[in-house]
Amino acid sequence: MELNRRTVIAGAAAAGMAATAFGGTAHATGGRKPVKELFGKLADGTKVYRWSLENGGTRMKVLSYGGIVQALEIPDSRGRYRNVSLGFDNLDDYVASSPYFGALIGRYGNRIAKGRFTLDGKDHQLSVNDGDNSLHGGAQGFDKRVWDVEPFSQGSDVGLRLYYTGVDGEMGYPGTLRSKVTYTLTRDGDWRIDYEATTDKATVVNLTSHVYWNLAGEGSGSIYDHELSIAASRYTPVDSGLIPTGELAKVAGTPFDFRRSKAIGRDIRVAHQQLLYGKGIDHNWALDKGITSTPEHVATLRDPSSGRTLKIATTEPGLQFYSGNFLDGTLVGTGGSVYRQGDALCLETQHFPDSPNQPSFPSTVLRPGQTYRTTTVHSFGA
Ligand code: BGC
Repeated sequence: MELNRRTVIAGAAAAGMAATAFGGTAHATGGRKPVKELFGKLADGTKVYRWSLENGGTRMKVLSYGGIVQALEIPDSRGRYRNVSLGFDNLDDYVASSPYFGALIGRYGNRIAKGRFTLDGKDHQLSVNDGDNSLHGGAQGFDKRVWDVEPFSQGSDVGLRLYYTGVDGEMGYPGTLRSKVTYTLTRDGDWRIDYEATTDKATVVNLTSHVYWNLAGEGSGSIYDHELSIAASRYTPVDSGLIPTGELAKVAGTPFDFRRSKAIGRDIRVAHQQLLYGKGIDHNWALDKGITSTPEHVATLRDPSSGRTLKIATTEPGLQFYSGNFLDGTLVGTGGSVYRQGDALCLETQHFPDSPNQPSFPSTVLRPGQTYRTTTVHSFGA
């Protein structure tokens, strides 16, 4: 049974259980004006700030570097808060070796084959940073840029507006791309992301967010017991370099069938060629609803041990479900624990990987005069 979220949080606050690293319980149910503090400095002296915000019982810490969600705390049904997203407690680790923990991804989420594509008859060569391919925008994607951050508090919402302009030719992409990403925490504790972008030359865009979820708490072990459902009858199989073959394969009768909620670990060791390629799950689901003008529910994640749930709604046609396969025990997270394979999962709402080279996939082309707009909403419960 799902309890009314605000009732649970109010109850927990009354019982004095809401105190955490965010310091204090002042308004467990209400919006709190985002607070800014220095988080660190980049090698060239650029200051990186961390913003703390809270609303409807959800607490977030966001960095100006990469728009990174450094921590996201939500309660269980008894009001016990845990940080449910993987990250680091210092800037140097993010710069040195982050597998995109919590980051904003751009200009293009996921892979573009050989970092090449042709647009309006012109060939483009992108920065290649994943074998032969370009991943998540290339070697210095939006996750490694310092964003301008503007806090806001509007009605019952609080949030941050993040701005970054990618210059023409950056990482090989044509066109100056002006991006604005709005993180909103609503009075119900939902985290809403609105992405917008404009360009001065035809280009390709596919922005997403790369939070690594573990609803039992970061550093608490594997997510294989988490139960997941995805409203998709098809997914995009890949080759050994994780580039889609172009096929939209049926999930029915395969380990990729999450139409009914099932434990992530249930089929993850099935000797299926696609699981061998991904070293687990690292695939894009073609959502049944397709592109929509308003966000529609596409996935539900539940941790049976804590009862915490995450529901995702999006306007996007695809969802990359990555089961944390490349976490290999070499990174130490926020709470001091080592992250190992399967200790978190990503659910990245997006257009399909390699769309610029796949004429049958929904287009990722953005032209001057158009505005790129997508929205994804994360709703938490217990
Ligand atoms: C990709 C994985 C990649 C990971 C980055 C995911 O979006 O699908 O292949 O390893 O991001 O750590």
